[in-house]
Amino acid sequence: MRGEALRVEVLHEPSQGRSAGYPVLIGARIIEDLPDLLTEHAPAYRYAIISDTTVAGLHGARAESALRGAGLDVSVFDFPPGEENKTREEWSRLSDRLLEERFGRDSVLIALGGGVTGDLAGFVAATYMRGIPLVQVPTSLLAMVDSSVGGKTGVDTPAGKNLIGAFHSPALVMADTSLLSTLPPEQLRSGLAEAVKHGAIADAEHLEELSGAAAALTAAEPGPLARVVERSVRIKAGVVSRDPFEGGERKILNYGHTLGHALETLSGYTILHGEAVAIGMVLEARVGESIGLTAEGTTERIAGVLRRLGLPTVPPTGIGAEAVIETTLLDKKARAGRVEYSLLTEPGRAAPPFEVAAEVVRRVLREAGMG
Ligand SMILES: NC(=O)c1ccc[n+]([C@@H]2O[C@H](COP(=O)([O-])OP(=O)(O)OC[C@H]3O[C@@H](n4cnc5c(N)ncnc54)[C@H](O)[C@@H]3O)[C@@H](O)[C@H]2O)c1
Ligand SMILES: [Zn+2]
Repeated sequence: MRGEALRVEVLHEPSQGRSAGYPVLIGARIIEDLPDLLTEHAPAYRYAIISDTTVAGLHGARAESALRGAGLDVSVFDFPPGEENKTREEWSRLSDRLLEERFGRDSVLIALGGGVTGDLAGFVAATYMRGIPLVQVPTSLLAMVDSSVGGKTGVDTPAGKNLIGAFHSPALVMADTSLLSTLPPEQLRSGLAEAVKHGAIADAEHLEELSGAAAALTAAEPGPLARVVERSVRIKAGVVSRDPFEGGERKILNYGHTLGHALETLSGYTILHGEAVAIGMVLEARVGESIGLTAEGTTERIAGVLRRLGLPTVPPTGIGAEAVIETTLLDKKARAGRVEYSLLTEPGRAAPPFEVAAEVVRRVLREAGMG
């Protein structure tokens, strides 16, 4: 291998019906090794790269020519960028393109892009001819630390996000952190919020590292980013290896997301997912502290790391406490008027899911300045 790659294995228990796991390779400029890695982990007669037009324009040609130079048969298919295109319509259009081009079951699909591409292309791979192998090549930080690992694929519908989909584990994940140099800074910060989440739920040292390396990370330095991605992937890989279908433990990854999702929705998606999760983590730490589940001082610790990374820690003006509570009750995870929260016991340690009364949340939101 030419580049220096860090490696994390995602393993599946044999009892879960999957023979093996898959490797996640992380490093700067490792995209040059993609042809060799494909030949080893996902051999195929033909390869189809799916990307949004932004990523295709920036990195598609390089990936394509690397594969072609190694003698692999490859074609690129693109779609317009943005969450609004993570739809059944786009899934159908991409699937039809592959059929027109006569891709068979001996093909491998490569998702080159952010989480939208990974989810959409992943769902195409999960369903094309009843499922063909998928390789994830994440290009946003959020996709590197979070969405490319774990096997969840799917699309949005007018009824809500990610409501139609399938579990389809990749054969390989390859995260080249030098691709992040073209990512807009706010998207980079959004991904860092998920890395903070991983530290908050499972690894206090990871929180320290994120805080200490804040300047290098926000400047998109590939080396420090690779270390952060590896540490985060290790945490996510551990959780999804133990609970691939979200039977229990995997819920800890929802920390910051119950209130975060509500804020994201109510803002009309004007705040990015990671920004909403950052605010959600601070509010949920406070919820935990106020019911005595979370150690005192946790909120301040989490908020301090987020601030250093340039992430918001207070809710935007114009969103009311009552609207947030209503929205959490509409979430697909709410049951019979009760909302389950994934909270912390202390920085670096998650608590089992806990149902919190609306009054408690209302008080915390009001104290945070929400009307
Ligand atoms: N499957 C999962 O487990 C999981 C987990 C978390 C999030 N998600 C999903 O991930 C999606 C969010 O992912 P995202 O934030 O990566 O969104 P995204 O894919 O839309 O990427 C964000 C923006 O960055 C651009 N971009 C990506 N890589 C780039 C690069 N290297 N240089 C320049 N621009 C680049 C994209 O074109 C896009 O405009 C959501 O749909 C969410 O539901 C899935
Ligand atoms: Zn998230």
